[in-house]
Amino acid sequence: MAVERTFSIIKPDATRRNITGKIIDRLEGAGLRVVAQKRKWLTRGEAEGFYAVHRERTFFNDLVAFMTSGPVVVQVLEGEDAIAKNREVMGATNPENADAGTIRKDFAESIEANSVHGSDGPDTAKTEIAYFFAETEIVG
Ligand code: RTP
Ligand code: MG
Repeated sequence: MAVERTFSIIKPDATRRNITGKIIDRLEGAGLRVVAQKRKWLTRGEAEGFYAVHRERTFFNDLVAFMTSGPVVVQVLEGEDAIAKNREVMGATNPENADAGTIRKDFAESIEANSVHGSDGPDTAKTEIAYFFAETEIVG
């Protein structure tokens, strides 16, 4: 296994409930390091661009509305096998299907307001990191 970087978002349902620290604690507890981070209120254009892959899905408009309903925390996580490890600690998209002890099982409100995003592979990780961060902002 190699040291990887992945992209993570703490979503508006979590910033609204002031539980960003609780979520970061789970990520750090899983061995992931926060090597870049900023709090940001996404514009509609930023959210539409970020989720462009989902634009034909029935939930796209609702998703963009949700992701722009409050601030988010965008971050780069680094660690051994970081992409898979982050997905594991996040849990399934729908919190009803998420394993015990995962972030989504413990914190998500619904399939949409599910507290966190995580890149799903090396290519998306690279693209998503570059969407929000310059290389000089990432400090490992
Ligand atoms: P993410 O991209 O946020 O890490 O989540 P994911 O891979 O587990 O889920 P994905 O299929 O990529 O969907 C992206 C986000 O869209 C919202 N969603 N809503 N209403 C629905 O049926 C539905 N399905 C997905 C969730 O916020 C999901 O994380
Ligand atoms: Mg996804």
